[in-house]
Order: sequence, then C-alpha cells, then structure tokens
Amino acid sequence: MAIFVDSADPDDARRAQALGFVGAVTTNPSLVAKVGRPALELLHELLEIFDGPVFYQVTAETLAGRADQAWEAYRVAPQRVVVKIPAATENLPLAKELAAAGMMTCVTAVCSAAQAYLAAQVQARYVAPYVNRLTRQLGDGVAVVRDMAAILRGTQTEILAASLKSVSEAEAALLAGAQHITVPLDLIVAMGEHEFSRQAIAEFDAAVRSMVEPAR
Ligand code: E4P
Repeated sequence: MAIFVDSADPDDARRAQALGFVGAVTTNPSLVAKVGRPALELLHELLEIFDGPVFYQVTAETLAGRADQAWEAYRVAPQRVVVKIPAATENLPLAKELAAAGMMTCVTAVCSAAQAYLAAQVQARYVAPYVNRLTRQLGDGVAVVRDMAAILRGTQTEILAASLKSVSEAEAALLAGAQHITVPLDLIVAMGEHEFSRQAIAEFDAAVRSMVEPAR
C-alpha cells in the first residue's frame, strides 16, 4: 500500500521527498512534455532528487525501439526504475521479456479487467488504470478498478490507480481494491487536510491560549 507522486517536475519530486512518505515518482510523456526537457535527462535528475522508484514510460513507435528505451532507462538505476509499457497486445511479449530479465514493469493505460488479467500473465508488477479518464469514457472508472482487483486476486500484479482528480476519487479507488495510487502533489497535500480537523486544531489552540493568557 503506497502513495506515489504523479509528476515529472523535479520541484515536485523534491517536495515529495521532503514529505518522507511518498513511495515513488510516476511520470508519463504528457508530464515530461509539461516540464519540456528530454525524458532520460529528467529520469537522471529525478533519481538524484528522490530516493525511491521512478516510473519511466517507453514511447518509441516500434517494438524494438520500446525495448531499447526500456533497457536504456533500466540501466540508469536497475533497482529503482520501473518501466511503464502502454497496454496493447503487441507490447505483452516485450513486457514478459523485460520482467523475466528482472525489470519492474507497469502496464499503463489499462482500461479493462481483461487487459489487467493479461498483464498478470506477463508478470507485470503494476497495472495502471486511469480512473478519472475511465469515468469520463466508460461512466465508472472505480467499477473498472473493482473488477481488476477481483480478477487479479491471487496474482503478484498490483493496481496502481492513476488519473485521480480528487480526494474522494482517490479514496474510492483504494476502497475498490487498488493497492497504490499516484496523484499530483497538491492532491497528496489535500488528502492530509480536512476542514473539521482544522476546526478541532483551532479549538485546541484556543484552549491552550486560554491557559496561558488568563481570562480578561
Ligand atoms: C499516470 O502517470 C497516468 O499517466 C496519469 O495519472 C494520467 O492522468 P491524466 O488522466 O490526468 O492524464
């Protein structure tokens, strides 16, 4: 059970490292493009800043190119790089080969329990369903997570719920059976806050002040 930060921004990785409980950094081509620097260069920097796993997505047009990208990233830090492979049947033999070689793999953009089941057949460490996107596309992304959790029961493949846009959506994904979630930094911060907690803290502070400052 872990929470990861969904960002390719070194500043986010630095802040996540400082929090001390964030388990990994997950990137994707869109997040890398937002930073505007080469993916491999960012991978090196994120591994320097953050002391846990960093997820790196292959993007080449050909299977051979994806394999090369996976090995290139893996060799940067074999114990810490998790290679993200987009969910497609043509990518499954590659995913199996990389897992057999000892690489941690994450089959990403998984949209069905069937895709998750095949990811487990190729020993993927993680499957990443994009919950908010699936809700917009299929109507109920959390239900897809629930089906994935049921079909993956007894396998070594874990669900890393992604594309989460609110605290309640993150909660729902976890309650549906996702072992891990990856969320933007501001959502990690928001998950630790609640208006009624702030209200209780204010009451405690007032009580302490009343003890220190005698009632006038
Ligand atoms: C994981 O890294 C996914 O690529 C990411 O969470 C997708 O989220 P989005 O739907 O906001 O792009």
